[in-house]
Amino acid sequence: MNEDKTLKYLTAAYGDLIGHRPCACVVTFGCQMNARDSEKLTGVLDQAGFLLSDSEKADFVIYNTCTVRENANTRVYGRLGQLKNYKKKNPSMIIALCGCMMQEKEVVETIRTKMRFVDLVFGTFNIDRFPDLLADILRRRVSDHDLRGEKPLIEVTETVNDRHESLPKVRKFPFRTGVNIMYGCDNYCSYCIVPYVRGPERSRKPSEIIDEITTLCDDGVREIMLLGQNVNSYGRKLNEPVTFAQLLDRIASQFPDLRLRFMTSHPKDLSDDLIEVMASHNNICRHLHLPAQSGSDQVLKRMNRKYTRQAYLDLVRRLREAIPDISLTTDLIVGFPGETEEDAEATRTLVEEAGFDNAFTFLYSKRSKTPAAAYDDQIDPETAQARFDKLLETVHRTAMKRTERFTGTVQTVLVEETDRQREGWITGRLESNLIVHFAGDADRIGTFVKVRITENRGFYLIGEEASS
Ligand code: SAH
Ligand code: SF4
Ligand code: F3S
Repeated sequence: MNEDKTLKYLTAAYGDLIGHRPCACVVTFGCQMNARDSEKLTGVLDQAGFLLSDSEKADFVIYNTCTVRENANTRVYGRLGQLKNYKKKNPSMIIALCGCMMQEKEVVETIRTKMRFVDLVFGTFNIDRFPDLLADILRRRVSDHDLRGEKPLIEVTETVNDRHESLPKVRKFPFRTGVNIMYGCDNYCSYCIVPYVRGPERSRKPSEIIDEITTLCDDGVREIMLLGQNVNSYGRKLNEPVTFAQLLDRIASQFPDLRLRFMTSHPKDLSDDLIEVMASHNNICRHLHLPAQSGSDQVLKRMNRKYTRQAYLDLVRRLREAIPDISLTTDLIVGFPGETEEDAEATRTLVEEAGFDNAFTFLYSKRSKTPAAAYDDQIDPETAQARFDKLLETVHRTAMKRTERFTGTVQTVLVEETDRQREGWITGRLESNLIVHFAGDADRIGTFVKVRITENRGFYLIGEEASS
């Protein structure tokens, strides 16, 4: 029997044991990378014969975890407590954990010793093993007729492999998805755990990326986000080096009807070539997520970000010169070790000077293994919170002012879903990624619609379909 058939057979046998077709729920924490990985987990479960469900009371529940900040971990532990209760009522339930948190030894140890209700654990480096591990878990249940399982099956590896791209996938949205152009990160920003849990930077070959995009377009995808922790360093280590600007240019030319986005851009590596490519293709969204992290040179230096406030602002100026209507968004960290009142103020004024459409603000979180965790000048939580609140107020005010420019304009919107609040309305996204609600039929979902923006509500817009 081939592997697919074995898994289908085992799923069916598990179904016989529990008395109904088993259903599965995939819960995603964290970034777009995890969201794309979850489409693979869902694909495997779908192909195995599970019914897909949004309910965490399902027979198989998997959490695809994130560990970028401590509160991401806390959230997972909190929700696991809830799952444990569900499992008490339904002992045949299978609970699985994967993703970035599982690449941390302490986390796995906690699960091994304190969370014996968890059945399966694997990491980001061996997600390709999911079909086999799932088969093993089901086999244990079926052959032992033991609905409660034994001890957790834990398989976390230290060596990376990227064989997971060949897993089947079920997309969250049929019309849009992410495509990994690279994995891992070599930048080692001093606060960041990602390089430790995602491994060193590896780029996929352009031909592989283009083949995947071709398949996705044939399958009805209208918008793709090219994914990498730092897309601007794409391709440097390939046998035949290719720059991100060249890759993007090629994709944008080859797929003129596809709307393209990318994330994330590290300011230190953003080239003028890339700005030119963005300016010269109208299927590349006029939006750039450009994490600044801080507006203070001394903080940036200790963060190991390798650019200055001035270099960042110069980049913003060059972007706006080349693409006047560009939307810029950013990430900012508050309360990094050693941050003074002046440093915090410099971050606040950077928001005003750069004119972001939006900024994601984070309280600094100490992560194990990272150099900044060992700095002895950690900021006390109250001070950090006060700075955070002040920054957030500036971000809101600046964003409201910036997004006002859309009012009265006609924008191309990719419709995503029916509006949850208003009957007969639908919701879509502008090139800038901002959400707009407008009256329309559900049959427009997955299509591009021209929308006149009538009102700016700060975090979202109201509009009406523009007669063409
Ligand atoms: N590769 C991307 C970001 C990945 S993590 C980049 O370089 O921009 C997403 C965001 O989480 C980061 O931009 C940063 O703002 C935030 N972040 C990462 N580590 C953090 C930490 N230890 N504490 C607080 N925020 C953090
Ligand atoms: Fe983390 Fe820096 Fe890499 Fe982004 S570039 S993932 S912030 S180490
Ligand atoms: Fe989180 Fe891992 Fe992404 S730590 S932000 S899910 S790469």
